[in-house]
Amino acid sequence: MLNIAIISSSIRIGRNSHRVALFFKKYLEESHPASVRILDLSEYNFPLFDERLQYQRSPSANVIDFAEQIKSADGVIIVTPEYNGGYPASLKNAIDLLHKEWHRKPVAISTVSDGIFGGSQVITSLQFCLWKMRAWTVPAMFPVPEVNKVFDENGNPIDDHFNEKRAANFISELLWCIEAKSRMGDHK
Ligand SMILES: Cc1cc2nc3c(=O)[nH]c(=O)nc-3n(C[C@H](O)[C@H](O)[C@H](O)COP(=O)(O)O)c2cc1C
Repeated sequence: MLNIAIISSSIRIGRNSHRVALFFKKYLEESHPASVRILDLSEYNFPLFDERLQYQRSPSANVIDFAEQIKSADGVIIVTPEYNGGYPASLKNAIDLLHKEWHRKPVAISTVSDGIFGGSQVITSLQFCLWKMRAWTVPAMFPVPEVNKVFDENGNPIDDHFNEKRAANFISELLWCIEAKSRMGDHK
């Protein structure tokens, strides 16, 4: 069974992008034999980064859990809001904690906004950061504009605004990368 981790990046009070994380969890569980876990950065509540996990003397159970979840995931979906043209500090704070866990990890990015552009300005900066971490960023986009009109607060699509085909294409690109990686085994 596939093991997929979904990072819900917004820790903002009253956040809305979390709806997209809830949507993907349900969507994947209903459409594939997959074990899906949301890694909610609000719940992890990491302090401001002061060192990478590998150099921490007494890392918290939270950080260890986060690292294990990323390490064991076959693929990761990052759901990120756009804040002033970038991704939130909470996400960078979490990405920088890890190192080898990101290497060759298939990572698909969904960007979210309450405006009409779906947070699409985030994608290049976040892709570059993940590329530097040697993650394998999946060449697919899932921008969600006007998130409140597309998903309700439980992550259920609101009919007129939701495009299922787009979600299916996005997930299929992620699954293709996961499959390609598994066929390569641990080849260095
Ligand atoms: C500090 C801040 C900056 C934001 N900047 C942008 C932006 O540059 N472009 C945009 O479309 N929406 C922007 N938004 C609105 C978010 O897209 C909106 O809050 C959306 O629901 C996703 O973020 P959330 O999950 O925190 O709610 C911003 C919101 C905040 C809190």
